[in-house]
Amino acid sequence: MLIDSISKMRQVLSNKNNIGFVPTMGALHEGHLSLIKTARKHHEVVVVSIFVNPSQFAPHEDYDTYPRNIDKDYALAISAGADYVFSPSVFEIYGTGSLTHVIVDPTLTDILCGATRPTHFKGVTTVVALLINIIKPQKIYLGEKDAQQVIILKRMVKDLHMDLKVVTCPTIRDYDGLALSSRNANLNIQERHEAVYLYQSLLMIKKLYTLGELNVETLKKSFTEVLKNATLAKIDYVEILGYDDLQSMKTIEKKVLVAVAVFFGKTRLIDNIVLEGGE
Ligand code: PAJ
Repeated sequence: MLIDSISKMRQVLSNKNNIGFVPTMGALHEGHLSLIKTARKHHEVVVVSIFVNPSQFAPHEDYDTYPRNIDKDYALAISAGADYVFSPSVFEIYGTGSLTHVIVDPTLTDILCGATRPTHFKGVTTVVALLINIIKPQKIYLGEKDAQQVIILKRMVKDLHMDLKVVTCPTIRDYDGLALSSRNANLNIQERHEAVYLYQSLLMIKKLYTLGELNVETLKKSFTEVLKNATLAKIDYVEILGYDDLQSMKTIEKKVLVAVAVFFGKTRLIDNIVLEGGE
């Protein structure tokens, strides 16, 4: 069932107490669908939200051109196992303007993607808190592809004592390893061809780490070297940080997140891998 009002959403969920929730901005692909299928296995009711959230886009970003196709997305969500697709208007969510925001500490939000998108995570935490408040799920399903988003939302849930669990699902990749993303459609043929080096460069870091290289600068350099094969790519960041605290280090001694962002023209792609410390 497709629902666009908060009151209707609350009404249909009022007597349900085993709800799995998958928040999305639509343009659904196999990555999103994997979250829905996982939620389907564990819950009586699965709710998928489709809401292109204006507050997480900066004025110069792609809010206006973000792909929207509710009929197609609805059909995909239902076929993957959703019971309800919640697709409210911007007015339904924010009215004439909300004065309330949920802000996680800048140590988590102002680095990596937050460095070039300073208001992004404030928009994400505010809308996800708001959606959780409407849907009241037992579990929320998020993709590891957006690892910083996962770390920030987990921290929000913990610090605000929200009564739910965050489930993280693995990154779904295309045939050549490129992480699925709605923004991949913006790549031209050569950019798409070269985008394979994003994951290849991450795999080089993993390989060297497995062989015993623990020096962060050396590992970051190996990423840059492999990425030179992508002549059209411009690195935004390559960082190796503590997994939960996102603190930098010189030598890997614990579980770390290797997070990267690369521009192909105006299209910014992100990806990451996790290295388990002590391996
Ligand atoms: P969106 O980019 O639509 O992503 C929705 C969910 O799908 C996120 O949890 C994201 O990590 C997951 N996802 C995207 N690509 C994936 C892939 N290749 N493999 C596995 N999971 C993948 O992230 C957002 O929307 C928004 O910020 C949102 C949380 C909905 C708040 O507006």
